[in-house]
Amino acid sequence: MTERELIAFFEDIHAHPELGFEERRTTAKVLEVLNAHGVTVLSSGLETGVIAQVGKGETDRVIGLRCDMDALPIQEESNLPYASLHAGKMHACGHDFHTSCMLQTALLLKARESEIHGLVKIVFQPAEEIANGAKRVLATGLLQNVREFYGIHSYPWFPVGTLGIKEGPVMAAPDRFVIRLLGKGAHGAEPHHGIDPIVALGALIQSTQTIVSRTLDPFSPALVSITHVEAGNTWNVIPECAIAEGTVRTLNSEDRAHIEASLRRIANGVAEAHGCTAEFEWHEGSPAVINDPSLCAEARALALEMGFQAERQENTMGGEDFSEYLQYCPGVFIRVGTGGAYASHHPKFTVDPAALQPAAKFFAELAIRRVNA
Ligand code: NI
Repeated sequence: MTERELIAFFEDIHAHPELGFEERRTTAKVLEVLNAHGVTVLSSGLETGVIAQVGKGETDRVIGLRCDMDALPIQEESNLPYASLHAGKMHACGHDFHTSCMLQTALLLKARESEIHGLVKIVFQPAEEIANGAKRVLATGLLQNVREFYGIHSYPWFPVGTLGIKEGPVMAAPDRFVIRLLGKGAHGAEPHHGIDPIVALGALIQSTQTIVSRTLDPFSPALVSITHVEAGNTWNVIPECAIAEGTVRTLNSEDRAHIEASLRRIANGVAEAHGCTAEFEWHEGSPAVINDPSLCAEARALALEMGFQAERQENTMGGEDFSEYLQYCPGVFIRVGTGGAYASHHPKFTVDPAALQPAAKFFAELAIRRVNA
């Protein structure tokens, strides 16, 4: 695609956002362009999402590139001429940018296929925002021989022309927990006839904040946030049950296991102290994203060689299921500076399409160098 065609493709995807596992139109548009340019599409059985391949032969030289395709349930307020046509849905995390960029990367690789002594597999992943897509893509079994994976994410805090490449942990494991404290209902005026789970809930909320502050190494970043509490529905009844739900974010598996065990202990201990019982649910998200140091150094050197600024972006305790691919091989999650005044997931979030073509060229060059390394 010419740069003009690439930007038109991006604007079209932006105008037609689709939520996780509903990316049928986006998938069809990607396939249309891949097919028109003779790029091999692997038969993955995925209902949404695409795995394309460029290169030759059965080989152990396989590099993976991964982008995501899904949008968010947000009403767009960007006022762009190509703003979302789907009410209540928006590409507010730049996945339209990722899809368009990696599509162009696939075409650039196809045009240079004779230079590729191995294979590049390009993954257009569904459902990143609901953190299920990567597992479904991996379950196809088509990525088992990938030896390095590279992921892309737009980054509004860097201008166009800057890439964020940082070694080590860059995003957290996003786990969810639910604690139910079960007491005994009673008249609001007769607390001695019941067991009040709301008082226990108050103690529980306070106690959970001691896990990070008192039991973790201060040099180990982690957080526990209770984000949802619920109990009772009127003024003169002591309810049976009180609920606290929230999230834990960690950068390594030791801290992750420690916080889960601590939450369980505190839930049971606080419940017992107040005569209640506790039920504990733990919903494990994807692991932390940990960039390989030597591959980061290679990618950074290439970025500088190609005229980009290469920065070490700030860590975020947000989650990203790109980490699922890194459970099988090393890789790097790369932030592409896309400018703009608003954070991702904001209704006024925008990316500058001028970042598309340079980033596509970078990922194509990176894939060729790494596959031939
Ligand atoms: Ni995202």
